[in-house]
Amino acid sequence: MTLFKGDCFELLKEIPDGSIDLIVTSPPYCMKKAYENPKDDIHTFKELHYKIFDDLYRVLKKGGSICWQTGYHISNANVIPLDYLVYEIFTSKNDKLSDPLILRNRIIWTFGHGLNSTQRFSGRHETILWFTKGENYNFDLDSVRVPQKYPGKRYYKGEHKGELSGNPLGKNPSDVWDIPNVKANHIEKTAHPCQFPSALPQRLIRALTNKDGVVLDPFMGSGTSALVSLLDERKFIGSELKDEYYDITLNRIMKAMRGEIKIREDVPVIEPDLNTAVAKLPEEFREARKKK
Ligand SMILES: C[S@@+](CC[C@H](N)C(=O)[O-])C[C@H]1O[C@@H](n2cnc3c(N)ncnc32)[C@H](O)[C@@H]1O
Repeated sequence: MTLFKGDCFELLKEIPDGSIDLIVTSPPYCMKKAYENPKDDIHTFKELHYKIFDDLYRVLKKGGSICWQTGYHISNANVIPLDYLVYEIFTSKNDKLSDPLILRNRIIWTFGHGLNSTQRFSGRHETILWFTKGENYNFDLDSVRVPQKYPGKRYYKGEHKGELSGNPLGKNPSDVWDIPNVKANHIEKTAHPCQFPSALPQRLIRALTNKDGVVLDPFMGSGTSALVSLLDERKFIGSELKDEYYDITLNRIMKAMRGEIKIREDVPVIEPDLNTAVAKLPEEFREARKKK
């Protein structure tokens, strides 16, 4: 594992051509977060992506994957979908590349909690663009299957009538992933304001790399992709500019090596128990709804 404290452009320069199996990251959205320059805007976001693309492409193996997780930039009340810009920029050189970047999925990551808006619908999803470098790529679906709702379903007609219709290992997780985001009471919460939940990079790492494959996260923050790579026996290279977050990464990795780290298992989000007190409609709400 190589953890670099500094600018990802410095790190990228040192990485040999065609040496990375998977690049998985979430870049700064330029939304005035604690780790961003307050002057950064949507132009900064675009410039960063134009600037980084050549190196990402160069270090990626033929058949390797890029998974780029972004949300939305809001400026003057306008919502700008960042993956739209990333897609434009990352595919803009395809005509000239021997192995063009091919978009395999646009994954919707949905989560149940966040800020409640009053002037628009509350945001409850972000996206991951999964590209491969060229036609042939690694995809181990069996390693990321999820439980079926009705595993006991059987074919009710045809030549397989009466046989179980699902896959015994579970179903394809689809391109809509319901994974709780890391808020204050999440067991993985660190001081980083925008952490990946570990299940997110974990699904990508398991499905798109083999054991001992090399994973790169240029904007590693609190090091979630580093942590998952370690737990799943992949090699990892990552960079983080801020001392504070770099130290969090280091701390998490040391804990993981001592077997002390806790991560939320990638299990389906629990449906509410309608018999609990908090699931029942309070009298005050019933009255307010009558008046509406
Ligand atoms: C959206 S956060 C990533 C969070 C991460 N996925 C996690 O699980 O914690 C982006 C991170 O990139 C870092 N960053 C911004 N510009 C950078 C650069 N040029 N090189 C390295 N890190 C950078 C920021 O400090 C921030 O921690």
